[in-house]
Amino acid sequence: MLFQKYSRACAALFAFLFLLASAAQAQTAKLPNVTILATGGTIAGTGATSTTTVGYTAATVGVQALIQAVPEIARVANVSGEQVFQIASENMGNEHWLILAKRINTLLAQPNVDGIVITHGTDTLEETAYFLNLVVRSRKPVVVVGSMRPSTALSADGPINLYNAVNLAGSPQAVGKGVLVAMNDQIHAARDVTKANTTTTDTFRSTELGMIGYIQGGKPFFYREVTRKHTVESEFDVSKLDALPQVDVAYAYANVGDVAVKALVAAGAKGLVHAGVGNGSLPAKTKPALVAARSQGVVIVRSARVGQGIVARNGEANDDQLDFVVSDTLSPQKARILLMLALTKTNSTKDIQRMFHTY
Ligand code: DGL
Repeated sequence: MLFQKYSRACAALFAFLFLLASAAQAQTAKLPNVTILATGGTIAGTGATSTTTVGYTAATVGVQALIQAVPEIARVANVSGEQVFQIASENMGNEHWLILAKRINTLLAQPNVDGIVITHGTDTLEETAYFLNLVVRSRKPVVVVGSMRPSTALSADGPINLYNAVNLAGSPQAVGKGVLVAMNDQIHAARDVTKANTTTTDTFRSTELGMIGYIQGGKPFFYREVTRKHTVESEFDVSKLDALPQVDVAYAYANVGDVAVKALVAAGAKGLVHAGVGNGSLPAKTKPALVAARSQGVVIVRSARVGQGIVARNGEANDDQLDFVVSDTLSPQKARILLMLALTKTNSTKDIQRMFHTY
């Protein structure tokens, strides 16, 4: 009699545990699969004290520790992590971008990967995001995230930014939106976002063209979409590239001469972005060096250091006559990226100008 009661209790317990396990498995099966590719930066940084928000060391905490520091992530996605690099992002280079882009495209081609989060230093985050916006060959969400305070700081912004980024990367609403930047509860498009403050947590702004949404309570709310081509609509393919053409930026300011332009061309630049004053104006002391560079086959893009607005073709310079390209609204650092990719396909300034009006 007692044995029968005992075996019935065991059977009931087993059934309960089986149901619990099945429910958990069903829940996990419903969660999106998100891969976190870690590259370093402040989000992986550590400071000497909890109040150290400047003067800390970036790129010290590994991807597994970043994930373990936010256990809430496991409730919203099945997450795996890869440490692609461990660098401060001021040291990000073309070679890093090619490795990252190829890894992303390999992962996104797998049916069991629903989205990707890239943890990154904020200094060049906007550049990596724009580069990926032009070379990722998938509509699946790719979200770039960082933080302005190291992981050891009071009110560190990294954990919530990472939680938001994972939610966004696993969200069906983020499909087909291009590469996104998730910082400070905001969603920005890769093309238009820029780091606008040296230290504050609201540093990422899409200024006049505007951010595209919010993340609230772990859920994305979109209010606009980008009109320029990206990802699967892009004509750029880096899968077979081991290097990118050398393209540099020459900055204009009062009293500037032609030393920087000449030095960059002598060092082998195949393309040169001029970060002009105002509407991309060419200082008289710089212009001859740019014209000479063009005559040597260097493609010149007139951009502007001001940060907002369209650099008008044939506005401050006769671009048709000079055979220069204008950057549209792209910042000098992003114009460099598009020109670099353009030069992997063509040297035609007509075709390159089309690209600057397309992406
Ligand atoms: N060294 C900077 C970088 O890795 C720190 C800034 C940050 O990540 O917020 O971009």
